Parts: sequence; C-alpha cells; structure tokens
Amino acid sequence: MNIPVANPMAQCMTQKDELIEAITKVFDTCHFILGENVTQLEKTIAELCGAEYGIAVNSGTDALVIALAACGVGPGDEVITTPYTFVATNEAVMVLGAKPVYADINPRDFNLDVSKIEAVITPRTKAILPVHLYGQFCDIEKFEEIAEKHNLKLIADGAQAIGASRFGKGMGAYGDAATISFYPTKNLGGCGDGGMIVTSDPAIDEAARSLRFHGMKDGYNYKRIGFCSRLDEFQAAVLNVKVKKLAQWNEARRAHAHYYIERFKDLPMELPVAKADNYHIYHQFTIKYGKRDELRQGLADMGIGSAVFYPGPLHTQDAYKCLGYSEGDFPIAEGVCKQVLSLPVYPELGMDNAKIVADAVCDIVSKLG
Ligand SMILES: Cc1ncc(COP(=O)(O)O)c(C=O)c1O
Repeated sequence: MNIPVANPMAQCMTQKDELIEAITKVFDTCHFILGENVTQLEKTIAELCGAEYGIAVNSGTDALVIALAACGVGPGDEVITTPYTFVATNEAVMVLGAKPVYADINPRDFNLDVSKIEAVITPRTKAILPVHLYGQFCDIEKFEEIAEKHNLKLIADGAQAIGASRFGKGMGAYGDAATISFYPTKNLGGCGDGGMIVTSDPAIDEAARSLRFHGMKDGYNYKRIGFCSRLDEFQAAVLNVKVKKLAQWNEARRAHAHYYIERFKDLPMELPVAKADNYHIYHQFTIKYGKRDELRQGLADMGIGSAVFYPGPLHTQDAYKCLGYSEGDFPIAEGVCKQVLSLPVYPELGMDNAKIVADAVCDIVSKLG
C-alpha cells in the first residue's frame, strides 16, 4: 500500500491535457512575464478572496515580504506573530530588518491567541501578522479591532487558507492585506513556486506592484528599493486552469475530514475543531495524540504517510535564538509540537483510501491506548 501524506502528482494528472494546452499557449506566445494569464489570475483570486486587488509574486514567502514592506514594515519595527507556523512567516519579518514578537497560540485551533496580543504591544509595534493555520481562519475580526485600536497594520498569512472564510468573508475582506502560497501541495498548488498578495487598499496595491518589479514606477523610474518577484505566465496559466476546481477540491478535503472526525470521535486523541462561523478547508487534518511518534511509525509500516507540522516552535530554532526567547516562553506552542500529527486529507485521496487510513489509525491507537 502507498498512501502519501500529500499527492500533487495525482491532482496534476486529473487535468493533464488541459494543463499542457495552457502551458503550450504561453510557449506559443513567448509572453512569459506579466501577461494576460497573470492579469486573469489576479482578478480571479482577488474576487475569490473578497479583495479589490491581487498582486501575483514568486512565492508565498515573497508575498509576505512584499505585503509587509508595502504596509511600511522596516528596520527596527516589531511585528507580532506566532511561533507555531512555517518558518516563512517569521523569515519575512526578519529579512526586512524588523523583529518578530511572539504570542502563544490557542491549543484548540493552533492559531495565534488574540487574547495575548495587547500584552506584547510596544511603541515599536508596527503590525500584527496572524496565520490562518491548516486552512482555518484565526479570529481575524478580533485582530482587526486590536489593530484599529492601536493604529497597527494587520496582514494575515493565508498561505494555507485559499477558499476558507469567516462569517462568509474571504481573507481579502479583513485587515490591510493577506497573502497566499501556490506551493504545489497547497489547496491551490501550481507546478512550481508562486504566491499572491490580496488587498483592497489602493496604496498597498500600488506599493506591492512596484515592489515586486524592482521598485519601478512608470518605466525606468525607481520609487523604492524593490525585489524581482513576478509570477511567471506558465505558473499563472496552470493556476488559471486549476482554480476552477478549487471549490470542489476544498469540499472533498472537508468530506474526508468529517469522515475522520466521525471515525475517531471515541479515540483518546484531540481532533481538529472547526470553529463556528469558519469555513475550514482542511489544508491539513491535524490531530493531537500523546503517542504520535508510535502512531506515525505504525502508519509508515503500513505504507501510509503522515507528517509533523511543526516539530519545533520557531523561538527554539537556532536561527531565531537571536530574538532572545527561551524554552518555556510559549508553553502551548511547545506542547502542541510534541503531539501533532497530520494525516492524508487531499482531494484525490478518495473515500476508499480515507477508510483505509481511518481503519489503520483506529487499529493502531486501540493497541497503543
Ligand atoms: C503558513 C505558511 N506561510 C508561508 C508559506 C510560504 O509559502 P511558499 O512556500 O510559497 O514560499 C507557507 C508555505 O509553505 C506556509 O505554510
């Protein structure tokens, strides 16, 4: 048996002919940078996220860097964020010369705990950067209230949450900007790297568009120090094909997740909780279980993939020790890292394989206790 934890190949194969046709069209035009495919994708994704503008860039990481820079984050600023995320969220802050200031997470949904934000605001705080982790929105409207009260920028890292919503509104409807990743295993994954910033603020749109293109404004005039971070036409063409299936794929992920929740409800583990008013798109289906390493090994022995996102919180990583935090500073994030395990939930898994995974988990856990 071979059930991987993610399977971008299976997804590409379902649309192979259409994808090759779209790529061939780009090849035939030889218009590789900032052409009609990027324009179309920016329009589609902005609409999908409830934003006025979409600015396509090279990766979800660059989307973060450019969104933060477009919001005025720079050297000496502090940005409040989570220690429990993919490293890019923090890296983006650091490469701009700003400092990530962490608050602990909520143990039930793994997102930044909004009740811990105000305690870490200082005169240097410039922005709040929560993450919509695993495909579920954080309490973004409460972050908005805090940002407004303290005159801070609010940028959400929505790399894992394209198509998710809260109170029926997508990530572009909240805060100053949000960012998306098109990494191949994401809910909307390209055939390579890609990302996007969504915003409804024309000033952020203008700054981000200029920043992704060397800080250029109107030809060879440079308004700011920028980056070289344009999404290429091949990726945009691929994503324009794939985005048509996004809603259907997100529904398939949800069906697998709901099935697991039903099957695992009596097991001695904590299951993902979809908060009321959230449309959770299960980028990951992540359980908490004290014997997760044994469970992971048992699944691997049966040919079933699983993954640990994330094995260590960022404040304990070598590269981030310079921030001055120590083990014990964020006990919830630290504890969660020891227990989390993500199971296969991607759309192409199918109910037959979801049943195989569920049977295996139930069997192993019944023996482990
Ligand atoms: C939460 C989070 N932020 C940022 C990123 C960075 O995206 P990318 O890999 O497209 O640079 C990722 C993707 O891996 C992510 O999961």
